[in-house]
Amino acid sequence: MRNQRIRRAIIPAAGLGTRMLPISRAVPKEMLPIVDMPAISHLVKEAVDSGIEEILIITNREKGAIEDFFDYSPEYDARLTAGGKDTIVSQLHGICDQANVYFLRQKEAKGLGHAIGRARSFVGDEPFVVLYGDDIIFSEVPVCRQLIDTYEKYGRPVVGVKPVPMEQVRKYCSLKVEHIENNAYFCDDMIEKPAPGKEFSNLSILGRVLLEPSIFDLIDNLAPGAGGEIQLTDAMAMVARQSGVTALEFEGTRYDLGSKLGFLMANVVKGIDHPEVGADFRAYLKEFVKEL
Ligand code: UTP
Repeated sequence: MRNQRIRRAIIPAAGLGTRMLPISRAVPKEMLPIVDMPAISHLVKEAVDSGIEEILIITNREKGAIEDFFDYSPEYDARLTAGGKDTIVSQLHGICDQANVYFLRQKEAKGLGHAIGRARSFVGDEPFVVLYGDDIIFSEVPVCRQLIDTYEKYGRPVVGVKPVPMEQVRKYCSLKVEHIENNAYFCDDMIEKPAPGKEFSNLSILGRVLLEPSIFDLIDNLAPGAGGEIQLTDAMAMVARQSGVTALEFEGTRYDLGSKLGFLMANVVKGIDHPEVGADFRAYLKEFVKEL
């Protein structure tokens, strides 16, 4: 049982987003909308709803739109206020004020591990969660909270996992696990983007991990791994082999907003329940699918 409260989260959002080209050349993929909210705002909300107070978003020089979204816009707000839309201004400010959001630029896209390595001084000596910037997960209990509860129970770093079709494991990572109880597993090894035949299992890390600060020394000494990138999985594999991590098969449905299909699916799922347009969109879809 760990008593140290988890207050900090990192959202790496400095990837190139090549799977979302051409749009990602001009619009950061993390700013693509799920109906009317940028994808990354769902991650910030998930962290806040999980009790996180301090959030570091890792960006790069092309992703200024993310910083703008979490900032006040005095000129725009003044025009809304002049038009009698003060309530909307309060709602927009609420998005900015829900947590302390900080930004740091990764100067070169050298991989997810390299991006997390930039956050050492933000984290200090506390455990922290990482929400991968393009993985949106809709769930009853926020997935960050599920990981924090698991950390408090088992006292080891936690990785959020799901089974993926075996032929797709090589696009993600593969974990060596033993079942503990319910949806928790003990993991003592993992491999990033395994070649066929090198898989441990069909359990892959999807979008959320909870790490301890000892990870930073491991990241600093990593050689480039799969795809020539500094891979966070390689550092987590060392932790798993040294002392083990808990793999939690989290409750929730994950959408990969870094892929065209995931983007479309997330918009349909949120669109049909949207308070303004949900009913009309649902009716439209019912008619539309009849012609498919
Ligand atoms: P991905 O591999 O999904 O992102 O990284 P990518 O590199 O943008 O994807 P492609 O180009 O479409 O294949 C997982 C997360 O790590 C971040 C990404 O922004 C994403 O949230 N990341 C990746 C960084 O912050 N820096 C990097 O150097 C690489």
